[in-house]
Amino acid sequence: MSVPPNAFYIPSPVVLLSTVSESGEVDVSAMSAVGVVCLDPAVIAVGIKPRRQTYKNIRRTGSFVVNLPLETDLWATDVTGTRPLRRSPGKIQESGLSICRMPETGLPYVDSCPIVMACEAVGNLGRRELNLNVTPSHQVVLGRITECLVGREWLGEDEVRLEDMPILVYLNRIYARRGSILQEQRFTDDPGKRAEKMRAYRSLGGTASEFHSEGSDGG
Ligand SMILES: Cc1cc2nc3c(=O)[nH]c(=O)nc-3n(C[C@H](O)[C@H](O)[C@H](O)COP(=O)(O)O)c2cc1C
Repeated sequence: MSVPPNAFYIPSPVVLLSTVSESGEVDVSAMSAVGVVCLDPAVIAVGIKPRRQTYKNIRRTGSFVVNLPLETDLWATDVTGTRPLRRSPGKIQESGLSICRMPETGLPYVDSCPIVMACEAVGNLGRRELNLNVTPSHQVVLGRITECLVGREWLGEDEVRLEDMPILVYLNRIYARRGSILQEQRFTDDPGKRAEKMRAYRSLGGTASEFHSEGSDGG
């Protein structure tokens, strides 16, 4: 059965973007048009409607923070994603989210999120860059991650325990729970080599940079 195209048929994470206006006002908004673009350097993409305060803040300041909310912040997440700051200046207070500052960049982040990533905006793709013959609903903002914080309770010996976090998944306008773990990625049939690769990829020190040049299939 043929149905009209819809990019949100691709399941995506739910994140909170925290930004700051030129005058210093903090905004937090839910975003789901989000994806990994490059591992080394770490670059992500977010599709944002140009009328959003979040988009204007990013264009003016050149930076934003990606916060990964947990199930416990579902209600707050929905509040931030349904109230434009322009019309609801008290949206952050209403959501109950607490804002802290990243130690290096000083950018605002959501305290209850287990992972937060400060990004420098390194690209903006619109109608011209995407070679579209219509004005796109969203602009693609590319962000290079420059500073990353992880809650101590989510850190293993030398890895971030992402697989243990009850993060939120977005399924075409429906919030879903992350499922249970099925298995590790099967890099190779050799269990020793597999363990070694897994350690290397997940290591806090060398996740992408050390291994991407080997032509490996780890992502
Ligand atoms: C789960 C969820 C995901 C969303 N994803 C996006 C998105 O990817 N891009 C976007 O432009 N808006 C998205 N929105 C809508 C914005 O979060 C919403 O319009 C918000 O009020 C914008 O506020 P602002 O104008 O203060 O930035 C999403 C909302 C929700 C609830």
